[in-house]
Amino acid sequence: MPSISAATIAPARRIRGRLTVPGDKSISHRYAILAVLAQGRSTITNFAPGADCRSTLACLRALGGEIREESAGTVSVMGRGPGGLRSPASALDAGNSGTTIRLLAGVLSAHAFSTTIVGDASLSRRPMRRVIEPLTRMGARFDAVDGHPPLTIHGGILRGINYAPRVPSAQVKSAVLLAGLQASGATSVTEPAQTRDHTERAVAAFGGRVVATGLTVAVEGGQELGGRAVLVPGDFSSAAFWMVAAAAMPGSRVAIEHVGLNPTRFPLLGVLRRFGAHVDVTEETVEAGEPRGTVTVAHDRARSLEIAPDEVPGLIDELPAIAALAAVHGDVVVRGAAELRVKESDRIAALVAGFRALGIDADEREDGFAIRGSGSPPKGGIADARGDHRIAMAFAIAALAARQPSTIEGADAVGISYPGFFEMLEQLAR
Ligand code: S3P
Repeated sequence: MPSISAATIAPARRIRGRLTVPGDKSISHRYAILAVLAQGRSTITNFAPGADCRSTLACLRALGGEIREESAGTVSVMGRGPGGLRSPASALDAGNSGTTIRLLAGVLSAHAFSTTIVGDASLSRRPMRRVIEPLTRMGARFDAVDGHPPLTIHGGILRGINYAPRVPSAQVKSAVLLAGLQASGATSVTEPAQTRDHTERAVAAFGGRVVATGLTVAVEGGQELGGRAVLVPGDFSSAAFWMVAAAAMPGSRVAIEHVGLNPTRFPLLGVLRRFGAHVDVTEETVEAGEPRGTVTVAHDRARSLEIAPDEVPGLIDELPAIAALAAVHGDVVVRGAAELRVKESDRIAALVAGFRALGIDADEREDGFAIRGSGSPPKGGIADARGDHRIAMAFAIAALAARQPSTIEGADAVGISYPGFFEMLEQLAR
């Protein structure tokens, strides 16, 4: 569905406040899937409210998952046990969600029926060969349109494999591990670089065994998981937009409570320190293997930044926010980030076009971008989010520093991961 809504962002001098952000999107997908595959009841608290995780719940319900929403953010799941899903009556709709389609491809590879998963226009352009290839080696069969959705999975009996993907991708790793849990023998994934490890931590939290050695993660097939009560921490990638705004704008300070502090997600904190911000982290607790706590970010200095290729996997969802940091204050050059071209939009093209529309000097590179935001504040203007939630939020943060009000077209895309983003922006900038 094309986004047609627009948001107007008024210039602001600074942002200040203490807040929480919605539950983590990556972790919510995994808890919902593992709860359905487990034996017994699970309760998931602070489940992500965005449209992506709703897509996962809807797909799991269509596959026979018994899922109830007890109250806002609390999801109760009666597990089906290993191999317990049933053939859906019609095609599943993953909406805008790459995590939904790729992780479910892994799960459904081990179920002896055929399922078609469709998505919106953006998802229909995203590459699926990266999961088709390993899952085919394990014994599943697939139909796709030139490697893109609609994706039909013909599941069956799987055998474990040792797989070394070429691209670092937590979705690919997770799809193979979820299939591996249901395969004969052992399955391992050796990544070219560390990606987020929520699947590994979640499988262990649901009673499974996962062995991680360096960049290799292995699971034995035929494991039984058990239902659990789990709490989802705040989404670090949503919090990233406030951290960046506070780092960039003089006089700003935000404290974000109960936010996820998984080390595979927080490399942005080091980037903000390099930029010159004050960053304070207090880890408060670890639940289901996921640490969470409070992150406080305050503006101090503003230095230029270079993001090197080996930093990209740990910052993959934060690169639009980092671009906004430069747009507000300072220069940034990002290299080795060609993966951005196959996200919810071509994020390199979308960022550069939108920043230019806001009056910011930006250049596109094959595998990254350069933004020169130092000097005077940008003029402001009309930027198109191209239906991409993180692009919409990056433009909103950049627009805060403009001289005149700006318009973000397609602003409703924020509902994919952060319903309530614009209301929070208004509160913090007051
Ligand atoms: C995700 C993994 C990343 C990330 C996406 C969520 C996940 O994608 O960009 O927003 O939940 O596993 P890739 O696996 O394509 O890098």
